[in-house]
Amino acid sequence: MALPLPLIFLLMIHRVSSADWGVSYSHSHICALKNSSVIMSCTYTYPTGYQIMNVFWTKSPIKVGEEYPDLSEDPEYSQRLQYLGDKQQNCTIRLNHVTQKDSHMYYFRFTTNVTEGRWTGHPGVSLIVTDLQVESPERVTEGDSVRLTCKSSCTLTDRATFIWYRNSQPLTERRDRNNELLLQSVRREDAGRYSCALHGHTYISPAVHLNVMYAPKSVSVSISPSGEIVEGDSVTLICSSDSNPPAEISWFKGGMFVGSGRIYSISKISSDHSGEYKCKSINEHGDKDSDILILNVMNVSVFINGSAEIVEGDSVTLICSSDSNPPALNFSWFKEDESSAVGSGQSFSALQSGRFYCEAHNQHGSQRSDAVTVTVKGRLVILYMSTGVVCGAAVIIMMSLIW
Ligand SMILES: *[C@@H]1O[C@H](CO)[C@@H](O)[C@H](O)[C@H]1NC(C)=O
Ligand SMILES: *[C@@H]1O[C@H](CO)[C@@H](O)[C@H](O)[C@H]1NC(C)=O
Ligand SMILES: *[C@@H]1O[C@H](CO)[C@@H](O)[C@H](O)[C@H]1NC(C)=O
Ligand SMILES: *[C@@H]1O[C@H](CO)[C@@H](O)[C@H](O)[C@H]1NC(C)=O
Ligand SMILES: *[C@@H]1O[C@H](CO)[C@@H](O)[C@H](O)[C@H]1NC(C)=O
Ligand SMILES: *[C@@H]1O[C@H](CO)[C@@H](O)[C@H](O)[C@H]1NC(C)=O
Repeated sequence: MALPLPLIFLLMIHRVSSADWGVSYSHSHICALKNSSVIMSCTYTYPTGYQIMNVFWTKSPIKVGEEYPDLSEDPEYSQRLQYLGDKQQNCTIRLNHVTQKDSHMYYFRFTTNVTEGRWTGHPGVSLIVTDLQVESPERVTEGDSVRLTCKSSCTLTDRATFIWYRNSQPLTERRDRNNELLLQSVRREDAGRYSCALHGHTYISPAVHLNVMYAPKSVSVSISPSGEIVEGDSVTLICSSDSNPPAEISWFKGGMFVGSGRIYSISKISSDHSGEYKCKSINEHGDKDSDILILNVMNVSVFINGSAEIVEGDSVTLICSSDSNPPALNFSWFKEDESSAVGSGQSFSALQSGRFYCEAHNQHGSQRSDAVTVTVKGRLVILYMSTGVVCGAAVIIMMSLIW
């Protein structure tokens, strides 16, 4: 049935005029992110016949002296507080740049021109200000499935979108549900400092380091000095490997353990040090061998069995001497400035002038000697001299060696 219009009007007046004193808050519990702005929406009612004198918010549930302390006079709040309401019914307030110290109960209070007409809106609004903390396992092993969680001390709104950072770079490719970042099969490259944030907010959580453990990789041996090695040199073998945690290094020569540590030093190398070297890198997640490094220490020299100065038509024997392990069985002879070998075998007969050297070969490689100089110094010349003849001709043959 339809009521006549004036009656509806009267009923409405009645409802308002008999309304109790009251304050109502849209949200009695607010979870806010550090440094964000919080709006506490609020309305209030009071009976007609009163005039609102003062409206303010307080965080004290009891009077301090004559009145409740006004938040806008608190130096901790005055710069950050904005009353968005009015003096009729809206008591909404905004608090900027909230800190965890702001976590508290807040109440709206109003006073009227009547001494008894004062009201505090209990039970108030509970504000909790949270930061964000990345929760992550401290140590993970390559291949593990790793879940990082962005934790807040209270439940942020469902609409909150989380953003993840690794080493301050936003992770764009990953969109994982809620506040979790899932690394399906964690890789070495995933190690780093992780932090999280909420979309649309300036606050970023402290970073947490994700340490990804893995077995040794890229194990290699380098040698110093890198050039030719001769007997008596000091030689250092260095084992490089990539692993987390750092690996223990062992050295092997021809399969036999010879030492440990990243560096293997040989102070006075001799042919006995020749052989096949490798290092093994071991940590709790596995081990890996380097490639083999061949050390071939050869002392090759040439000596001349005879005089370095010969006469034309004569020859001198050059002998190649080699000290190596295993011994060299194969020798080649070269003349400087000629690319192809001029001979083979441990000795060589030099017939011409030149600088000669030998090259000794064993299964690990070869080494050449310094060169020796052979000089053909003379020429045997026969001079015929004839003189006028009387009877009984005389022929004088002079043989002369011209130097
Ligand atoms: C309070 O204000 C209202 C509205 O202005 C007025 O009607 C009322 O008389 C006032 N009461 C007192 C006690 O001053
Ligand atoms: C109260 O004031 C705020 C800020 O002006 C406004 O956003 C809000 O809608 C108002 N609330 C009511 C119930 O009118
Ligand atoms: C807090 O927020 C302001 C802007 O609202 C921003 O300029 C400032 O850098 C933020 N501070 C921190 C510590 O995030
Ligand atoms: C090479 O061997 C010879 C003879 O065995 C030796 O006298 C010489 O010192 C060696 N050279 C080096 C650099 O050890
Ligand atoms: C050097 O020559 C002499 C005499 O010709 C010979 O007896 C000797 O065996 C040679 N030495 C070598 C190492 O060939
Ligand atoms: C000797 O060395 C040369 C040059 O490296 C090689 O061509 C030859 O096959 C070797 N001979 C033997 C018997 O090892």
